[in-house]
Amino acid sequence: MDIRKKFLEFFESKGHKVYPSAPLVPDDPTLLFTNAGMVPFKPIFTGEKPAPEPPRACSSQLCMRAGGKHNDLENVGYTNRHHTLFEMLGNFSFGDYFKEEAIAYAWEFVTEVLELPKEKLWITIHESDDEAGKIWEKYVPKERIVKMGDKDNFWQMGDTGPCGPCSEIHFDQGADKFNSPEDYLGGDGDRFLEIWNLVFMQYNRDESGKLTPLPKPSIDTGMGLERITAIKEGVTSNYDSSIFRPLLEKIVEITGKEYHTDKRGASHRVIADHIRAVTFLTAQGVQFSREGRGYVLRRILRRGVRHGYLLGMREPFMYKIVDTLAEQMGEQYPYLLEKKESVKDTIKLEEERFFETIDKGMQLFEEELKKTTGDTFSGEVAFKLYDTYGFPLDLTQDMLREVNKQVDMKTFNALMQEQKDRARANWKGSGDVKINLKDLEKVENNKFVGYEHTEYKTKVKALFDENMNMVETLNGSGWVMLEETPFYAESGGQVGDKGELRTYPTSQNGELRIVAKVVDTKKFDDKNLSKVVEAELKTGDEVVAKVDENRSEIAKNHTATHLLHAALRKVLGEHVTQAGSLVEANRLRFDFTHPKALTKEELESIEEMVNRVIAKSIPAEVKEMSIDEAKKMGAMALFGEKYGDVVRVVKFGDFSVELCGGTHVNNTAEVNSFYIIKESGVSAGVRRIEAVAGFGAYRYAKGFRDLVEEIKSENKAKDLKAFVEKQKEEIKKLKTEIKELEKAAVKEIKPVNKDGINYVIERIDNANLREIATDLKGRVDNLVAFLAGENKGKVTLVAVSTVDSVKAGDLIKNYAPIVGGKGGGKPDFAQGGGKDSGKIDEMIAQVKKDLIK
Ligand code: ALA
Repeated sequence: MDIRKKFLEFFESKGHKVYPSAPLVPDDPTLLFTNAGMVPFKPIFTGEKPAPEPPRACSSQLCMRAGGKHNDLENVGYTNRHHTLFEMLGNFSFGDYFKEEAIAYAWEFVTEVLELPKEKLWITIHESDDEAGKIWEKYVPKERIVKMGDKDNFWQMGDTGPCGPCSEIHFDQGADKFNSPEDYLGGDGDRFLEIWNLVFMQYNRDESGKLTPLPKPSIDTGMGLERITAIKEGVTSNYDSSIFRPLLEKIVEITGKEYHTDKRGASHRVIADHIRAVTFLTAQGVQFSREGRGYVLRRILRRGVRHGYLLGMREPFMYKIVDTLAEQMGEQYPYLLEKKESVKDTIKLEEERFFETIDKGMQLFEEELKKTTGDTFSGEVAFKLYDTYGFPLDLTQDMLREVNKQVDMKTFNALMQEQKDRARANWKGSGDVKINLKDLEKVENNKFVGYEHTEYKTKVKALFDENMNMVETLNGSGWVMLEETPFYAESGGQVGDKGELRTYPTSQNGELRIVAKVVDTKKFDDKNLSKVVEAELKTGDEVVAKVDENRSEIAKNHTATHLLHAALRKVLGEHVTQAGSLVEANRLRFDFTHPKALTKEELESIEEMVNRVIAKSIPAEVKEMSIDEAKKMGAMALFGEKYGDVVRVVKFGDFSVELCGGTHVNNTAEVNSFYIIKESGVSAGVRRIEAVAGFGAYRYAKGFRDLVEEIKSENKAKDLKAFVEKQKEEIKKLKTEIKELEKAAVKEIKPVNKDGINYVIERIDNANLREIATDLKGRVDNLVAFLAGENKGKVTLVAVSTVDSVKAGDLIKNYAPIVGGKGGGKPDFAQGGGKDSGKIDEMIAQVKKDLIK
């Protein structure tokens, strides 16, 4: 039974709109991953967005529960039912129906569509929810309706967000199969399996923990597809269901290690689970990295690899399972099929990386384990495993759990903190010298005044040499920290400002002398420092700081980047998120998540959309506000911002709202114009657009015009199009002439007559042999022709025969092997090909020898 399909059809028949699975990386900075079916609908539940029409929805949503509030990573492989990635079937009501219908629908689906035996179904409700209890009594005897507390029957998405009391349907797998002490309703045993959670969404929880009622009570339900499939298929573990079986079989094939359904099969199960998460995340554009979501992805893959290591694998293997998964789930998620090859490459590369250090790491681990007498494992070694051998902490913890030991977290955390401090104190300069920031810590932060000013009178607050040692005077190269600085420090993709420092004319005839050239500006912690050359400065000097004029070009490119981002989302969809950006004075580069190359039409409409917004002269609105307010305005937030942070919002009408610290134009008209120069792929699921705006756009267009002019003048062509047409005609004419000449040459070919048969056995390169053969056939009687020639590096062969004694097909079949080819055909006409053009002469000689001599 295709349960996913049945579920969606059932709710569609009840007036619900079917929604596709939203991306695993949600447009929500409070969440690491989409962890429930309701996540894409969160703004609707909270009232930030109006309810859609119809106000009821259903979906089969891919969910990740690794990292974040709902984290199942640790249990995966050791239980029958925990997964990092799973699909959640859900139906949702946005202020439409409530408990009565939600319960009725769920009951109908479970008992009539899935046909689960009613007597095996148990219900839990929140202890305060008599209303739900009353409704359930219509379907289930009172004894099987159980009240539970907040821990079991109150659901919330995360520390903040929509929540409410819930009611769960449980399936009793039978005391005959399970009778551990934990096998009671609500216990950790497997006998009673929660299959469906109906959440009566009534509140929104804010950062302080306060609950406020939602605008309208709503419904959010969730049923794990993997679990319900296992139940329906009559197996007690999800891993024995048709969803996981093919993956486990593939793992057995790759590792050569048998699968056991008990404890011994944990490694197989971990790999089967983890490859699903890794494949989907990679296919959706998440990249392996040292932090954030990319680090969760890395942790999952490395856990999988380590379990493969336990099964004897010593080189990448997980990527080999991707084909099986794509075959299995490609119908529902076609991008798996489309991106399979690049996903495999990406995974393989990351596996290779870990396999380089895993041996040494495992050795170190084993040695330390032998030395560990108590149940605490050295925090130092755990840190070394992390830092030197790439073993994520939870991987080490996972290994220790198997032997009932734990990491000494106090030491581990202390070392981690030390490393962070070191990283902050060290900054890697352009050379390979580590620069010490200790001196810098002695100075207070300075102020950036560059949003309002590009020229500013200020004082030298502190000076540093190239190694960041504080100095009183600076002659030559080093770093300057101004009390107030108009120079923008590189961040958010925008390059650091350049410019100059001048003396301040204090007396009537005071000269304006340049006392330093600013070549770059960077932030160290929150301090803004400019790199200078040719400096003649001392601390306390009064100077005028002047930002290079190209700052206005940088602003144009930065604004163009925002407009491009907004246009991408409008044309391609909301899944587009920024993955990297570079803003310079003469160009911009923008990386974003999108599964495939953009079509010409898409690129054209994006480019046009941006140019239209430019032409509309929309003024910039720049404001500082809380992140909550910013999100209400629809700002595209980046993951990592915390609630309560003050953010700067840059807005251009209704078209674009972004959180951004960069410098922008005052009005879109200043951007002038915008051209996309190139679109390319960066990695699986990440595309890159390179473009120009402002004066750069003018230069780009001028470049084209100059090229056209150059071609015109070099060829003395007034009208380029007419010129090209003429050239084409000319080429056509020349080609015909060549053909005529060829034909005339062929006419020269004299057949050799032997025993009444006219033989033509010739090598003719770069010619249409078929045509020549047809021509010969038309004018020579009793003909046997064998023609061969080289054409574009390959050998072509044609044979014709109008006599009974020789068959054209046989000629080709017999002689083509000499040139490494084959072919054949009918007795009167045959053709073939070959690879080895160096052997043509040898072949022709052989044919002549056999037929004529
Ligand atoms: N959002 C609810 C859950 O995840 C249905 O259990």
